[in-house]
Formats: sequence, C-alpha cells, structure tokens
Amino acid sequence: MGYTPFSMRVSVILPAAGVGTRMTPGHTAHTAPKQFLELAGTPILIRTLRAFAEIPEVTALIVAVRATEMERLSAHISEYGFAERVRVVEGGDSRQESVCHALKALDCDEDDIVLVHDAVRPLIEPAVIRRVIEAVEKHNAAIVGLPAMDTIKQVERTADGAIVTATIPREYIVQAQTPQGFRCGLLRRAFAEAEADGFVGTDEASLVERAGNPVFVVAGSASNLKITQPGDLELAEFYLAHRGNSH
Ligand code: C5P
Repeated sequence: MGYTPFSMRVSVILPAAGVGTRMTPGHTAHTAPKQFLELAGTPILIRTLRAFAEIPEVTALIVAVRATEMERLSAHISEYGFAERVRVVEGGDSRQESVCHALKALDCDEDDIVLVHDAVRPLIEPAVIRRVIEAVEKHNAAIVGLPAMDTIKQVERTADGAIVTATIPREYIVQAQTPQGFRCGLLRRAFAEAEADGFVGTDEASLVERAGNPVFVVAGSASNLKITQPGDLELAEFYLAHRGNSH
C-alpha cells in the first residue's frame, strides 16, 4: 500500500473506564457504559481496538477499564480474537488516572511511540492514525485537531448563566480529538510532572504542553466523533453506512 513500516514500536492506550452518565442518564454501575454499547452489531470498544490492531506497526494495546468491567472485556477480547496483543488494566477516577495506570503497565523505550485514543471514538480512520504516527516521528508530540466551524466565545459562568467575555478568532482554534501521540519518554515525564504538581488535564497533550513541549496538529475529520450523548450512536451508524463497511 505504498507505506514504509517504522522500526520503532508503537503502543496504543485506550482509556475506557468512563461511566458514561451523559449517554444513559440515570445510569448505574449495573448498566453497560457507552464503550460496551453496540454500533451496527459490534461493541464500540471492539471496533476501536480493531482499528488500531489493523495497523502493522502497533505492537501492543492496553485498555483501561473499571474493575467491574475487566471480566466482561476479557471475554469480548477473546471472542473477537485480539487476545495476544491486548492487555487490560484497571482504570482510575479520571481519564488522566486511567491513562497513567496504562502507562505504568506499558513496556516502552524513550523513543518508542505511544498513542492514546478515546475508546469511544470507534470511527478513527487508518490514514489518520498513520498521519499521527508520522507526525510524532518528526515532532515528538502530535494530536488530531478539527478546525472550528462555529464562532467561539469565551464566557464567564454566573449564577444567571454564561456571559460572553471575548470572541476568539476561529483561525486560532482547533478542537482536540484523539489519537494523541508522543514519544514514550516525553509522555512519561509529562505525567510525572503533572502528578507532582497536582495538575489534572482533560487530554494528554495538555500535560505535554505545560511541560513546555510543542505539540503538532494533524487534520482530523468530523466522523471521528466521540460517542458521548444520546444521538451520537445514530450519527456514528450513519457515518459507518456511508463508509460502506458497517459489518
Ligand atoms: O469522559 P470523557 O468523554 O473525557 O471520556 C473520554 C474517554 O476516557 C472515554 O473512552 C472514557 O471511557 C475514558 N475515561 C477513563 N477513565 C475515566 C473517565 C473517562 O478511561 N475515569
């Protein structure tokens, strides 16, 4: 396919320990979190795993899930035939903690590449994963970003609601998606610094940025949506049907 394999190892961390309260209001620990819901007959997490398992350079995949889901996930993984390259670890109370657990369990050298990808973004395309790997090779840190289509306002939250404090020019904005990729050593140091400072970010890049490292942005697509709210599943099914591989 005209693609030169890389010599370094690429590992993938999939944080999947969210409880998914936005997807299923009234959700309890006894109902399926969104990453286990089925998208066109296949669990979302399995679709996400498959997307990365199909990239030849990916040597290891680590999934972080809640302790109560570990058994269910291991059964799914065996059922779908991924067992040999996939490890399951226990997640934490925040996404950052879940990734941190996986990072500690990961065997990687300083220059190896680690990709972190939301388990609930099953429609990630191989070409985008490859763009991120190539950008990390060149720049050491890279994320997928989607240009903002809407006008972006900065607001102040008050008891009566939000009040606009500024309009941020759209050309300065991208919406951060995943995968987010880094050299393993760089990511480990950024996590250690964040932990020491008590900083909790909503993505990995924010930890790497605050450690003073430039993070490169590669172009994403709207179809790489994060299945978060009711309606997202139907939208994902629509994208899948239009891609012609809804099996
Ligand atoms: O909650 P959010 O939308 O940021 O979730 C993004 C990803 O992080 C999801 O795949 C979710 O399962 C995961 N997550 C996690 N551990 C948490 C919270 C979220 O692995 N404690």
